[in-house]
Amino acid sequence: MGDPLRHTRIAQLAGSPRRRYYTGADLRRAVAVEDLRAMAHRRMPRFVLEYLEGGAEEEASLARDRLAFGDWRFMPRQLVDVSARSLACELLGRRSALPLVIAPTGLNGLFREGGDLMLARAAAAAGVPYVQSTMSNDRMEDVARTPGLRHWWQLYVFGGEEVWQSLVQRADACGCEALVLTTNAQIFGNREWSRRTRAGPARPSAATVLDAALHPRWIAATLLRKRGLPVFRNVIDFVPRERRGFFETAHWIREQQPESLDWRLVERIRLRWPRPFLLKGLLHPEDVRRAVDAGVDGIVLSSHGGRQLDQTIAPLDLLAEAVGIARGRVPIHLAGGVRRGTDLLKALALGATSAWVARAPLYGLCAGGEAGVQRALEILGQEAFDAMGLLGAASLDELGPGLIRRV
Ligand SMILES: Cc1cc2nc3c(=O)[nH]c(=O)nc-3n(C[C@H](O)[C@H](O)[C@H](O)COP(=O)(O)O)c2cc1C
Repeated sequence: MGDPLRHTRIAQLAGSPRRRYYTGADLRRAVAVEDLRAMAHRRMPRFVLEYLEGGAEEEASLARDRLAFGDWRFMPRQLVDVSARSLACELLGRRSALPLVIAPTGLNGLFREGGDLMLARAAAAAGVPYVQSTMSNDRMEDVARTPGLRHWWQLYVFGGEEVWQSLVQRADACGCEALVLTTNAQIFGNREWSRRTRAGPARPSAATVLDAALHPRWIAATLLRKRGLPVFRNVIDFVPRERRGFFETAHWIREQQPESLDWRLVERIRLRWPRPFLLKGLLHPEDVRRAVDAGVDGIVLSSHGGRQLDQTIAPLDLLAEAVGIARGRVPIHLAGGVRRGTDLLKALALGATSAWVARAPLYGLCAGGEAGVQRALEILGQEAFDAMGLLGAASLDELGPGLIRRV
C-alpha cells in the first residue's frame, strides 16, 4: 500500500509536529477513512486484519489500485457558482444519493456478528446499494428485510449447477434488485500473509489463536455473540457436515469453484435472472467489449481488491478506455482503492457511473459497527461534496475528463 503516512510527512520536519491518526472510540472524531482504519487496526486481531487488508503475493495489484489515483490530478475551474451542487445520480434507473455502492465482501461476521446486516442498514440510511456476497454470514432473507435497502446479490459459482440455481432463485424471491457475477475468483488468490497466520489450510496457528485471545473487544463483538466463529448461512446447507467449521467451510468452497467458468455459463445464469445483471472483475478491454456485446447491465472493473492475480493494472488504469468501448450503452463501475472523496471524483471524471467501496466501509464496521459504516460513507460523501465545489463542478454532468490530467 506504499507508505500509509505519506500524506502526513510533507508538512513534517524530522517528525515534528508529531502526528497520529485517531484511534479512540468516538466515531465523530474520525475525520478521514484513514482514522477508521487506524481504529480498526487497534481493535482487530492480526489474522482478521490480514484478511481485511491483505492482497496476493507481492501485493502489487493491491498497491496499484491505490497508487493509480495519484497519477491523475485535478485542474479546478474558478468562479463557478457551485452553491447548489449535488452528487445525486441514477443507478440502474433509480435515484441514488451518491454514486457509491458498498462492494460485496465475504466473512463480514468475522469483523462483527451481524456485520452484513450492519452494512445493509448503513447503506440504506445513506441511500446507496449494498451488494451482499455469496460468502456473507447473515442470511440473505434477513438482510432483504432491511427497510429502504437496495439489495444486490453477488454470486460466486461453486459446486454443482444446483448451487447457483438455488442462490439465484433465492435472490429473486428476496427481491434483490441486481445480480452481480464475480468472474475473477474461481481460483483463490495466493494471499501469502493470510496463509502465514495459519498452521494448515483450515487451521489457525498457535500464535494466531494467542493473538486473537488478546483482543477481548473483538471476542465480545464476534465470538461471544454466536458462541463461536461465524457461519456461512447462505451456503452452509451445501457443505458436507464434517466441513462446516468456519475455516473448513471457506476452504471447502474454494476447492469447489469450477475453473471452467466461461461466457457460456454466464449466459445461462443471466437467462435465469429476471432483473439487471452485472459482471464484476473485468480488467481487459476485449472482455469489456464482449460484456457490452452480451448486453449486460453493468460492468465492474476490479482486481478484487488486489487479492487475486498479482501484478495487474488497476481498474482506474482501464477506466477511460472501458468507458470509450461502452459508449454509454453499458454503465462502467470501478471497484478498487477508493478511500477519499477525491478518488471518487477522479473515477467519475474518467467516466465511471459509480465507485464500489469495500475496505473503507469495513474499516468503519471494525471501528464501530453500523455507526462506523455510516461514518465511513458520511466522510466519503462529505469529502466528495466539498471537493466537487472546489473543483468548480455543480453536477455530475460537469465532472468530465476536462477537469483532470494524467501527470
Ligand atoms: C475483505 C474483503 C472481502 C472481499 N470479498 C469479496 C467477495 O466475497 N465477493 C466479491 O465479489 N468481491 C470481494 N472482495 C472484493 C471487493 O468487492 C472489491 O472488488 C474490492 O475490495 C474493492 O477495493 P477496495 O477494498 O480498495 O475498496 C472482497 C474484498 C475485501 C477487502
